[in-house]
Amino acid sequence: VTGSVGCVLVAAGSGTRLGADRPKAFVLLAGRTLLEHAVARVAGSGALGPLVVVVPAELVALAGDLAGVRAARELLDGNLVVVPGGPDRTASVRRGLAVLPPDVGSVLVHDAARCLVPPELVRRVSAALSSYAAVVPGLSPADTVKQVDAAGAVVATPDRATLRLVQTPQGFDRGLLERAHRAAEASGGGSATDDATLVERLGQPVHVVPGDPRALKVTTPDDLAYAGWLLAAERAASSLSDVQAT
Ligand code: CTP
Ligand code: MG
Repeated sequence: VTGSVGCVLVAAGSGTRLGADRPKAFVLLAGRTLLEHAVARVAGSGALGPLVVVVPAELVALAGDLAGVRAARELLDGNLVVVPGGPDRTASVRRGLAVLPPDVGSVLVHDAARCLVPPELVRRVSAALSSYAAVVPGLSPADTVKQVDAAGAVVATPDRATLRLVQTPQGFDRGLLERAHRAAEASGGGSATDDATLVERLGQPVHVVPGDPRALKVTTPDDLAYAGWLLAAERAASSLSDVQAT
């Protein structure tokens, strides 16, 4: 890895499936926005330098002023900026990449919706960038996965052992990721649900490291309730270890 590791944190989605009264990243979990939870974990991982937070255009000023975002900016010695996103996730990532400082040699892309990402997962992905140009965290599915056609008929049942459910942060050599985004944009079919897909389209290898169930993506109201439970469990465990340490 040459240069520092930067991070693009995408939080510019609307959260249609969550159905809240505001964009998903601004929904509260235990009194703080999902965005602040995510920022605290990414910035607190110690794994990175510059952080670019991408939010809906009308919320740029508000996001920059959130207590958790200000605290992270301080932690990162001012290396945190908030910029407006685009019409889909891929476009939002591209907006973030465009403002990363020139000395950033590799980049992590993280979904703010994965607001409880453990800092150790951020470090794991970042560390793997010294061996691989593209790294994604993945979990083995517990369920059997079927491929189906539009009518709902099963087309195939891939061997579960060969499947991974992929999360973020995803890590990339910056040049490779920028090339992947440029190629996607030039081909017109510029969108994908993650960044690794764009790298795969270039024919470049992507390496999978173990993911973490706590990095779940808050998508539905049930996910939000579950995230609240996970956070409470995490806090209970850390106060227990505080007690044991005294
Ligand atoms: N995202 C983004 N810009 C967009 C769309 C999505 O930055 N135009 C971000 C979201 O904020 C989220 C991540 O990409 O952190 C993953 O997207 P998803 O979970 O689909 O979030 P939303 O698009 O907000 O939710 P929904 O699809 O239910 O509307
Ligand atoms: Mg979406």
